[in-house]
Formats: sequence, structure tokens, C-alpha cells
Amino acid sequence: MSQSDLLRPNLPEQGSIEHISRQEARIPVPEAFAAQANVTPGQYAEWYRESIESPETFWDARAKDFHWFQPYHRVLDWQPPFAQWFVGGQTNLSYNALDRHVDAGRGDKRALVWEGEEGEVREYTYAQLLDEVSLTAAALTRLGVKKGDRVTLYLPMIPEAVMAMLACTRIGAPHTVVFGGFAAGAIADRMVAAGSEFVITADIGQRKGEPLPLKSVVDEAIKLAEEQGQAVRGVLVVRHTGSDVTMQPGRDHWWHEARTDEREDALPLDSEHPLFILYTSGSTGKPKGILHTTAGYMIGAALSTYAALDLKDHDLFWCTADVGWITGHTYSTYGPLLLGQTTFMYEGAHNYPHWGRFWDMIGRHGITILYTAPTAIRSFMRHGDDTPAEYDLSSLRLLGSVGEPINPQAWHWYHRVIGAERCPVVDTWWQTETGSIMLTTLPGAHPAEPGTAGVPMFGIDPVILNREGEEMQADEGGFLTLRQPWPSMLRTVYGDDERYAKTYFGEIDGVYFAGDGARRSEDGYVTVLGRVDDVLNVSGHRLSTAEVESALVAHPQVAEAAVVGKPDEMKGESIFAFVLPQEGQTPDPQELRQYVSDLIGKVARPDHIVVAPALPKTRSGKIMRRFLRQIAAGKSIEGDTSTLDDPSVLERLAATPVE
Ligand code: PRX
Repeated sequence: MSQSDLLRPNLPEQGSIEHISRQEARIPVPEAFAAQANVTPGQYAEWYRESIESPETFWDARAKDFHWFQPYHRVLDWQPPFAQWFVGGQTNLSYNALDRHVDAGRGDKRALVWEGEEGEVREYTYAQLLDEVSLTAAALTRLGVKKGDRVTLYLPMIPEAVMAMLACTRIGAPHTVVFGGFAAGAIADRMVAAGSEFVITADIGQRKGEPLPLKSVVDEAIKLAEEQGQAVRGVLVVRHTGSDVTMQPGRDHWWHEARTDEREDALPLDSEHPLFILYTSGSTGKPKGILHTTAGYMIGAALSTYAALDLKDHDLFWCTADVGWITGHTYSTYGPLLLGQTTFMYEGAHNYPHWGRFWDMIGRHGITILYTAPTAIRSFMRHGDDTPAEYDLSSLRLLGSVGEPINPQAWHWYHRVIGAERCPVVDTWWQTETGSIMLTTLPGAHPAEPGTAGVPMFGIDPVILNREGEEMQADEGGFLTLRQPWPSMLRTVYGDDERYAKTYFGEIDGVYFAGDGARRSEDGYVTVLGRVDDVLNVSGHRLSTAEVESALVAHPQVAEAAVVGKPDEMKGESIFAFVLPQEGQTPDPQELRQYVSDLIGKVARPDHIVVAPALPKTRSGKIMRRFLRQIAAGKSIEGDTSTLDDPSVLERLAATPVE
């Protein structure tokens, strides 16, 4: 990776399409919102200063809101790149998200409201959710799950997903949730990497009216994992639709049968006890198991939900992210529950059975805060203003965006059409690795700047550097890095401390390297410019080019493959694959798409395929992706092509049809 990568042509369209001067573009905080906001400008300034100047004092004060079975004796032990927070303390996230509220007399408050794709609604109070989670935790224990055992979750967006996560954290068994869009091979890889002997799944999920055969995918994944030497001892199966599935006696158990009337208490766990592992894509084909631990994650999740998403007692908060991604962990599940507030969950597709589905649910349930992805916003925008106008969106008071850069046009549409210019819009930048929101405008404290995430959250010290570690001038593009450790940061890459140290703290000395390009204005607003590595962001889903390439080259007719991102108006980026066939072969693009989909999952299906006569390589054999990105984007070739072994390849490639 080089500094010039920051200038790569597929950086998101930040500012380029409809650039408005920055100051002009700022939208003031609506007065009515400011008057009731959880965090005022003065409070932000005071807390932020303290969080940077005396982080231990700041975080110690925040930790007081939680239940500790045993108090910690030290707030932070920072031995770069390894951090330990709230050292010596014992707590439990499940206890803090459930028991604490019930004990305080808030057991009757709604914790979770769920709607299925066909319109079925289920609600759980805190007392009910605590009961469900305690029963599930006991069932897991009976299944043989012990403290420290990794449990794989492959579940649709149903209340049982939340229960399963909280049940795992209750007994100290780190969960590793695999997104329902991943195929058996990808699940197996993650199970093997995590050494997971237990799985929680459901018979069938549903998407756009179509059944998703989750249990049979899990059966296949287990077979593949076992072939790689990973024994699987127990599978818990939620009966969601009641479809026929094959149950393997001794190994597979129905959720409703395994749960008896036994309940399990929350286990006191060390602050640094592993909470969950979430696999995400990096620069290589091997997904990274991002490890988060108990106390720091808990406090980061709760504080950011309070400050950036402004959750309060009368709110019904809807974070649309699937629990298979970090946003679904921190903001669909843990953040709102830790605050004792009400979270809304929806199982189905955003446009099923029609494009008004989201707005219909917001109106019917009285949802007050919506937190969703730019991809979804752009697809609604394409369907025009008329559909949302048919619904009552007056309950909304705050809108959030997450997962990818939001282009100003989509921002303004969201603000005007969905938020009636009454609701602030927060554009939150963070990552699986950071555990919680790092950059945003606080809705009651900072004017928003469309296309720009904003200012740092408490304890976050962002700095834009060049490769040599020198700070860039205001408004100059550079690498986004964070200078100080924070409680919800990843602790390591599971089982691979070296990869952790190298990837996140080895690129530029002494700072956390995010892998994004960014610039910062004179007054501290950070604009994120997109990834500077080979990570793709397709509809807010994070994928590595190497992962897709290794799936393609596994096909018998493919000799080599190079995958790049192509800017896409809807998806942010689409997947563009150049494949070099084996001698004498002509692979069928449609078949290749299916092949990748079968191996990794639908999310990784290449959108565009060029069956290439050759790939642009340097004399030492390195594929020059920079040029492939230009070809994919339909741009003319820019840059020095003299290092290429055969520069004429570029012309031939550009002339090859895209399928
Ligand atoms: O490139 C950034 C982009 O998403 C990446 C992190 O992806 P993931 O770990 O899957 O987490 C997504 C949800 C937190 C980042 O490195 N990204 C995320 N949010 C934003 C963003 N890019 C620009 N603006 C954002 N608000």
C-alpha cells in the first residue's frame, strides 16, 4: 500500500459529485432537539477534554453506572498494542443488560419488539427477556457449553438471536455470529478458526417470502468443519417456521425442548473475559476473528448509544443491521439493552412486500430513532418521495447512518424526506474492530455536515497521517489513525496476536491504523474517504478482494483472478472480477457467479466479470490492481504503465466485454 493509493480512482464520491463548500453545508442542530438531547455542546466539550487528558478518570466515572461483582483495581493497563481495561474487575454483560434493570423495578418495560416478514409481532419486557435468556443459558450449560467455549450462531433476525447472544455472554461462552448470507464453506471456516464445538441455528429463515434453509446449511457446514478436524458436539435448533429438518440424534436438540424450567444465573466474569469473536474481512483471504472482551465493550456500547443515538425512556429504537455484523451486535442488541431502552427488530427484506415496508413499520410501531445504512437509503431514494409520503413518520426524532460513506445527495434525501428536516442525521464512522462509534456529530451538540462523519467520540483521538507518521495539514487526505486506546477496541485477532499487532499497530508506529483514508477540517470534522486497502464495501458489507479471488481460482476452469471494487451508485461498490481462464477453457460467467455464491455466500457474488486474455502484471509478477480499478470504472488509464511487463494488456482488457 502506498500513499498514492489514497488517490485511487475508486474512492467514494465524497464531495466530488455535488461538492458544496463545507461551512455552507453544515446543518444546525434543531433547537427542539438540542433542548432535550442527552449530551449538550458544553457537556461534550467537558467530557471530551477529560477523556483525552485523563482517560482513566473519565472511564472510571462511566463505569460506575454498571454492576460489578468485584470492583476493578486499575482502569487501564496499556502495553502497546495490548490493552486491558478495568483490570481485576468482575462483571457480566447479560446481567447489566437484563437483571440490573429488573432488579431496579423496570421489569415491565419493553426490551424488545420484533416483527416478522409476514407481519407477526412479538414483544418482550425486560422481565420476560431475562427469563428467556436464563432458560437458554441453562439449556446451553446442559448441552455441555462451558465458560470460554465458543458458540457459533447462524440465525435469522428473530428474538431468539438476541436471546442466544445474551445467553452465551451470561455463561461466559463467547459467541461468534455468522451472517445468514454466508454459505456452508464460510461457516465451516469460521467454526474451525474459532474451534467452535457448538452451534445455534433455526430450521428455516425467510427473506422476500422465500425460505432460507438454515439448518441444512449448518449440517453441510458441520460436515465440512469435521473434515477439517473440528468436532461438533451440540446443535440447538430454533423452530421458527416449523419446517421439516433432519435432526441428528445426540447432537441436535430443539431449542424449545432443550429449555426446561431451569434458569441460569449470570456468571461473574473477568473484565477481559472474551465476549465475542466476529469474523471480518481483511487484506488477505483469511477472515480475521475480531475479539472483543467483556467490560470495555459493554461500556463503549452503552455510552455511544446514549451519546450518539440519544436513546431515552420513551424511545423505540430501530437499528436495521443484522446481528451477523458488528452494528447488529452493538446497536441492535447490546447498546439499547444496556441502557434499559427498547429495541426494535425486523426479520425481513427492506422492500418486502413493497417499498413502503420500513415506513409502514415506523408508523405502526411509533419508532422514534432509525439507524440504517446508506445503501438502503439510496435504494429508497431511487423509488422516489411518494412512497414514504404515504406513511406517518412523525414519530421519528433522530436518524442515523452507518457502514459506508453517505453521499451528500442521499444524506439530504434522508434528512428531508424521512426526517422532514426536523430530525438530526448522524453519520457514524466505526468498524468491527472499534466495537462502537468513533466519529460522528452528536445530534444535540454538533451541526451535521453531509458527507462528513464528524468529530471524535469520548476518548477517541483521531489523527490523519502520511505513511511516515507525519500529520497532514487540515483538509489534506491521509491515513485515518487513532492515537489512544479506548475501552471497546478489539483486543486481538483471535489466535493470532501477531496479525493483530502487524495489521493495526504495525503500519504506522504507535497508532491504530484503521485502513481508511480521511481528511480533517480546521475545526476537527473528519471526512472518511474510503478504504485504502483491498477491502471492499458492498452495500455496507465488508469483503476482501482476496476472499473472492480464492473462491474464483478454486474453479477448475480459472487459472488466475483479480477482484476490484467498482463505484456503484446504489451499493457504494460493486464486485468486479477479472478472470484468466486455464489454457483452452472458456468459463461461463454465470456459472462462476454461482460458484462463488456457493462457496462464500450471495454477498460475495461478482457483479461484473471479464474473462480476461491476460492480467496487467509487473515484471516481478505482481498484479497492478490500480489499473484494473480504472478499467472497471470505465475510466481511461492514468499513471505510469512502464513498470508493466506488457502495457498492451490494458488496452486488450478494456476492449474485452464485461458480463
Ligand atoms: O471503510 C469504513 C466503512 O466501513 C468499514 C468498517 O466496516 P465494518 O467493520 O463492516 O463495520 C461497519 C459498521 C460499523 C470502515 O473501515 N465505514 C463504516 N462506517 C462509515 C464508513 N465509511 C464512511 N463513513 C461511515 N460512516
